[in-house]
Amino acid sequence: MTKIRRRTLLAGAAATAGLATAGSFVPARFAIGQQAKVKIGLMLPYTGTYAQLGQAITDAFKLAIMDRGGKLGGREVEFSVVDDESEPSKAPENANKLVTRDKVDFLVGTVHSGVAMAMVKVARDNDAMLVIPNAGADAATGPLCAPNIFRSSFSNWQPAYAMGKVMADRKVKTAVTLSWKYAAGEESTNGFKESFEKGGGKVVKQLWLPFPNVEFQPLLTEIASLKPDCVYVFFAGGGAVKFTKDYAAAGLKQSIPLVGAGFLTDGTLEAQGESAQGLETTLHYGDGLDLPKNNAFRAAYKKATNKEADVYAVQGYDAGQLIAIGLDAVKGDTSARKELIAAMEKAEIDSPRGKWTMSKAHNPVQDFYLRKVEGNQNKVVGVAVKALADPARGCKMA
Ligand code: BEZ
Repeated sequence: MTKIRRRTLLAGAAATAGLATAGSFVPARFAIGQQAKVKIGLMLPYTGTYAQLGQAITDAFKLAIMDRGGKLGGREVEFSVVDDESEPSKAPENANKLVTRDKVDFLVGTVHSGVAMAMVKVARDNDAMLVIPNAGADAATGPLCAPNIFRSSFSNWQPAYAMGKVMADRKVKTAVTLSWKYAAGEESTNGFKESFEKGGGKVVKQLWLPFPNVEFQPLLTEIASLKPDCVYVFFAGGGAVKFTKDYAAAGLKQSIPLVGAGFLTDGTLEAQGESAQGLETTLHYGDGLDLPKNNAFRAAYKKATNKEADVYAVQGYDAGQLIAIGLDAVKGDTSARKELIAAMEKAEIDSPRGKWTMSKAHNPVQDFYLRKVEGNQNKVVGVAVKALADPARGCKMA
């Protein structure tokens, strides 16, 4: 990547020089804008249970820019990077630094819904452009939706609703839900409960532990005594690895089917080993999706990082694609805010997950796949819900 960066820096300098000589027909304001770099503020977790997720988003976001010769809207790119540690209490200060001190053109982040909520507030208060490449906090594209806030990932409601429907369609009668007690866990398990109960099932108990606690033992004992027909969980990253191992070690894997939002098994399969084999989850991505865009993306990502792509990488890549579409439409002129936003709203993203569009609330309308773990892959075995849009409850733009 260093080599490519050097090449694009040189190409950028040449392009800028060309613009200066052609200045007679380029408006002054625009010419100045073209010379300056586009500032991107990456606020993501690089330590803690979500560290790998933040790194995958970062690597793939940069890959999307490399695909465009290292530029966005014809301008070189400069990054300000902050490790948010998935720590909501530090989030307002971190986000403010990027927006008011570094004056980034786009704030990009994050993984954790609690941290994302602070970023949404800072973006709203300062009218800053924000693209969320993971965190599913329903409110970001619900009551707190805004013209300057976009998401390239999902709402917590979406994959959960899809899995509740799958279980209800199978006439599964009872379920217990379990998650970390913060926005993502609450919204995910409630989304499952909504469609599962609408389809005739009953959630008999919702169990919790604090984020990012992994002391699962007492909860597994309770699940064993409740004997539901299935268990639905929301866990991700390092916590998901520990959970599937503990669930299998407790002897529950054979007796009570474990299902979840796909984060349970995404980017984690190597570490989970046998404990994840056969698990079914729902998500807007699957490793083996045989689409030209996915095959090309996976090969390029592997080449750049020596890692297999996962859903986090896809969302990071699409955040880059979305910003590129917006900036291309205004030829890099971020002051043309209305046109920039209009282009992002109208974008049809050619994603490794399949094509998707933006809802009125700025959340992806996309297919949710049913996946089953086979070896080191989340294999797509069907489409759980096609073109699922978040209900965007409370959003005045929707
Ligand atoms: C969230 O906090 O919204 C989240 C974290 C990890 C994976 C998915 C969602």
